[in-house]
Amino acid sequence: MPSVCRVSDLTDRAPRKFDVDGEDVLVVRIDEDIFAVSDVCSHSEVSLSEGDIVGCTIECWLHGSAFNLKTGVPLGPPATQPIETFDVTLSDEADPEVFVSVRS
Ligand code: FES
Repeated sequence: MPSVCRVSDLTDRAPRKFDVDGEDVLVVRIDEDIFAVSDVCSHSEVSLSEGDIVGCTIECWLHGSAFNLKTGVPLGPPATQPIETFDVTLSDEADPEVFVSVRS
């Protein structure tokens, strides 16, 4: 499972894009929780990390569909298909490393 960054590298509610084993992955910290989802919108393949965090969703900047960061499910149109969600693991350190698994 690759390490993408440390928790201190993540600004609260500021999504970042990482290449994880060739996959574009959006990683974001919301308070104490860290989420990793596909960075590619299921509607028209734009980069979701350029969108905004609203509650526990990432809102696509192009047409406004908001995807639940826990489930990947879009809350409204035009997107109808979920985006992938990935497991996140933290190392046991004061400033933990963030590991993201894109393989199930
Ligand atoms: S490209 Fe994301 S909602 Fe259309």
